[in-house]
Amino acid sequence: MDPATDFHALKSLLQWQVELGADEAIGEAPLNRYELPEAAPAPAPKAAPTVAAPEPREGPDPVVEARNAAARAGDLNSLRAELEGFPHCDLRMGATNLVFADGNPAARVMIVGEAPGRDEDRAGKPFVGRAGQMLDRMFDAIGLNRASPDAETALYITNILPWRPPQNRDPTLPEMNMMLPFVKRHIELAAPEIVVLMGNIPCQALIGQRGITRLRGTWTEVQGRPALPMFHPAFLLRQPLMKREAWADLLALKARLEG
Ligand code: URA
Repeated sequence: MDPATDFHALKSLLQWQVELGADEAIGEAPLNRYELPEAAPAPAPKAAPTVAAPEPREGPDPVVEARNAAARAGDLNSLRAELEGFPHCDLRMGATNLVFADGNPAARVMIVGEAPGRDEDRAGKPFVGRAGQMLDRMFDAIGLNRASPDAETALYITNILPWRPPQNRDPTLPEMNMMLPFVKRHIELAAPEIVVLMGNIPCQALIGQRGITRLRGTWTEVQGRPALPMFHPAFLLRQPLMKREAWADLLALKARLEG
């Protein structure tokens, strides 16, 4: 099979580039820089790649609308209903299902992840794909389980975005800002004792910082509650050696619950 046309080879190459951080196209046409003639003028410098600015919209500010909708919700069912009726986030148009939450809302621990992937979009539940199975194994190891009816041993799980971004790309800042009032209200209404921030995206959204390698394992605060940033299970699937740090964080969480 020719690696230049083989679907799987091309997909792995793309995945590898994304893992290196090259996750955005900055030109319409591919440019083979090895084949540029010696004297070719350097291509005009491009502006730093940024997330495309959203088209200016007529009408109400979606962030204000989100704040109002979230504030109207007096319980988790009405929060879900407000999200279902929230028209301003374009991601909903490409999604199969709203992914609101899973687990036991009475749990002492609430996990906030990034955004649904393909499996979650199909199932309408967070963390059900490979990363989700890893997450279940991690928390099982300290006696916490999303299926537990007992708040002591239960988990409650949600994401920053409730709709799948296309091609599983990272959420953009405008998307996060728009959905944040719902996430904050979700935390308020579930009222967990501890919030776990799974990976960079929830850290960016809820504590305004990225750099999970530095943040993980250090307790912080979200909505007045203790919060623990941890490596995302999808990252652990790619970097199994980092499971040692994840295990230390799980033990810190267990100790806090017991202490
Ligand atoms: N990754 C996440 O952060 N959330 C999911 O629901 C699935 C994968």
